[in-house]
Amino acid sequence: MSREIRNLAVVGTGNLGARIALQAAYYGYRVSTWDPNPASFDHSMAMSEDRLKTTTRVPTLTWVQLGQAAEKVARCAQLEQALEGADLVIEAIPENLEMKREMYARLDALAPAGAILATNSSSIPVSLIADATGRPELCVNTHFYTLDIGRNLVDVMGSREASPELLEQCAAWVRSIGCVPLTVRKQIHGFCFNRIWRAIKKESLHMWAGGYVDYQDIDRGWMIWSGMDQGPFGLMDNVGLDVVYDIEMSYYAESGDPKDHPPGALKEKVTRGELGTKSGRGFYSYPEPEYKKDGFLKK
Ligand SMILES: NC(=O)c1ccc[n+]([C@@H]2O[C@H](COP(=O)([O-])OP(=O)(O)OC[C@H]3O[C@@H](n4cnc5c(N)ncnc54)[C@H](O)[C@@H]3O)[C@@H](O)[C@H]2O)c1
Repeated sequence: MSREIRNLAVVGTGNLGARIALQAAYYGYRVSTWDPNPASFDHSMAMSEDRLKTTTRVPTLTWVQLGQAAEKVARCAQLEQALEGADLVIEAIPENLEMKREMYARLDALAPAGAILATNSSSIPVSLIADATGRPELCVNTHFYTLDIGRNLVDVMGSREASPELLEQCAAWVRSIGCVPLTVRKQIHGFCFNRIWRAIKKESLHMWAGGYVDYQDIDRGWMIWSGMDQGPFGLMDNVGLDVVYDIEMSYYAESGDPKDHPPGALKEKVTRGELGTKSGRGFYSYPEPEYKKDGFLKK
């Protein structure tokens, strides 16, 4: 049996983890966090500030609201402390199956009995991780998107052993923090909307790396067609090209299909440290990427 969700622990406070912690704290949950790199939370806050300054979308929380929430988030020096009393644990560490399995085994050993273990993985079905624990029936995917810029969506998917009631409990919790759950009824790599976005991302990378078109033209086309203020390459820069690479490798590991292998040119960018917004350079240069400049859509 799962517990009523009052206390949240977030493990990994990088780009996504910190932002999830802030969202839940703002909506009144007691939130404790842990990350082996204590500077990660502030770095993530700084990235949120930058995004809020430049987005044309309505943010999920304003900068002032994020500041209020930040005061309520406990940043713990030890994982054990962060997990004390947790009803729901959200893991947001790098997209690496072995790393996540190791972390889940630790979470299972340290978190209270009955606590739900959720992963923010962008692609991996939690069933591939859940058997590292003694509570696979309490393991779920809760995949958050870029909350800063109003993408208040969460893919929710259970392990093979999870009950429909557990999924409904998780969906209700997602609603209670001002987000919209997209429930997956049958397990699939990439979940609900993220699998749709992945199809666009994969094709965009293939066309750029194959030399068919310039990435700016793909973004231009996407922005004019969709009315969004970013195209797929601007979006990938925000996600982090290292994270994008790991996600594509996770799809490849699942299918073994060479067409799913991310292009070598993407790996080269990661190796050069061109990770996107977080390193100041990815496909574009930051803080003033070309696609935000006047005239980009008219070239
Ligand atoms: N970046 C995105 O837009 C995005 C969107 C949705 C989901 N995700 C997923 O969320 C997860 C985290 O992605 P991110 O973009 O926040 O990554 P990130 O690199 O910004 O943050 C990862 C954090 O995990 C910490 N970490 C590294 N190894 C760890 C370990 N062994 N134990 C605990 N913490 C560890 C790092 O210090 C870092 O702060 C990934 O699974 C990713 O696929 C990312």
